[in-house]
Amino acid sequence: MTPSDVKATLTFSDGSPSVELPIYKGSVGPQVIDIRKLYAQTGRFTYDPGFMSTAACSSAITFIDGDKGELLYRGYPIEELAVNCDFLETCHLLLYGDLPNAAQRADFTKRVTSHTMVNEQMQFFLRGFRRDAHPMAILTGLVGGMSAFYHDSTDINDPHHREISAIRLIAKMPTLVAMAYKYSCGQPYIYPKNDLSYASNFMRMMFATPCEEYVPNDVLVRAMDRIFILHADHEQNASTSTVRLCGSSGTNPFAAIAAGVACLWGPAHGGANEAALNMLEDVHRTGGIERIGEFIRRVKDKNSSVKLMGFGHRVYKNYDPRAKLMRETCHEVLGALGMGNDPILKLAMALEKIALEDEYFVSRKLYPNVDFYSGIVQRAVGIPVSLFTAVFALARTVGWIAQLNEMIGDPEYKIGRPRQLFSGAVRRQVKPLAQRV
Ligand code: CMC
Repeated sequence: MTPSDVKATLTFSDGSPSVELPIYKGSVGPQVIDIRKLYAQTGRFTYDPGFMSTAACSSAITFIDGDKGELLYRGYPIEELAVNCDFLETCHLLLYGDLPNAAQRADFTKRVTSHTMVNEQMQFFLRGFRRDAHPMAILTGLVGGMSAFYHDSTDINDPHHREISAIRLIAKMPTLVAMAYKYSCGQPYIYPKNDLSYASNFMRMMFATPCEEYVPNDVLVRAMDRIFILHADHEQNASTSTVRLCGSSGTNPFAAIAAGVACLWGPAHGGANEAALNMLEDVHRTGGIERIGEFIRRVKDKNSSVKLMGFGHRVYKNYDPRAKLMRETCHEVLGALGMGNDPILKLAMALEKIALEDEYFVSRKLYPNVDFYSGIVQRAVGIPVSLFTAVFALARTVGWIAQLNEMIGDPEYKIGRPRQLFSGAVRRQVKPLAQRV
């Protein structure tokens, strides 16, 4: 962290002595005021529910400029990565800080692909779930359950353990997500095939059966790979912060990533892709384009809880750059499949047009986010709606693990322990039962 020449001075109207707070500059982005000694110096905490103004860590992995609509992984714009690199190169970049050269790429791919199988016992673990269980419920259990299978990579303080657990998680997530899907439809699991690319392998494990081989379609494989790249990391979002907080207690990496999966499930976060597609299908069922006006009226109504899912973002106050790329992929995929007239896509584009012109959305800077279009692409690929968030979790695993490893390697890291503004009852005495009113 580079100290700024400027310092912040905090003064109090009750005559308490003012305090001077250091300010640090990042390489780019807003400066931060260092309040670590604030409590010791003033006896006061800061109050910031939802972390609206709080940098919880220093990180060198991903940078977002929400006003410009810019997303950089290790300095590289997402638009360049999406067209020039594949997902495993992106994983290398996020984990180790730079894109691999040809030899590093081959070595990394070999390391990941040699870990794609999961312990055979895990299928028995799966059997404990109901067939109609939500895939995210299963995935949370399976990822946490990995700590019961891979004892040689659970010590978060051992760099070698951290490295193997990172590779294992990246390699095994597609296998686990596909197993959760196959379990839900009662089909046999398909083992990974290591001469396929990461995305093709996932699609084959999803869609092949022992009776019929799956022949991957290049356009769909590219679309899947792009979905993985666009979701790979997104700085200190809710699930990543969850992974960091969970990992800060020294728990094993599989447990920390399982916490991230659980957090991602929520509809305000990763669950938005499922919610956005369900919303589009709902609007389509109840009148489609003709009734959009009515739907938008409900979204804007303060007394209704209806939201335009796939719109809005805590950080982006401009078009989410991932949404632009996903929109492009959406047209490419539906075109290749001869689904250019898909009513759901038409509906999505009509909703987007109205929202981008409507004062409610414009004044609140609500733009489409990545989830607005990723559901349409996944549906066209053949992925069931309930699996969308699990696919997001698969892709985000590398970001979670890169952020977790960065935190553990940071000499300033401490167990996360927020404080509170207490507003409950003050000290009182327990009355005997007969005297309680
Ligand atoms: N539809 C209608 N109104 C909205 C929406 C929406 N999707 N999002 C925000 N608003 C309104 C909100 O009601 C509030 O209005 P007012 O100022 O009148 O009270 C204003 O915009 C500010 O919203 P906020 O809830 O304070 O913003 P936030 O930063 O706390 O929430 C969000 C961000 C993503 C949770 C929210 O925009 C949302 O729920 N969007 C829909 C869910 C979604 O698509 N989530 C995916 C996010 S991208 C994928 C990921 O990274 O996980």
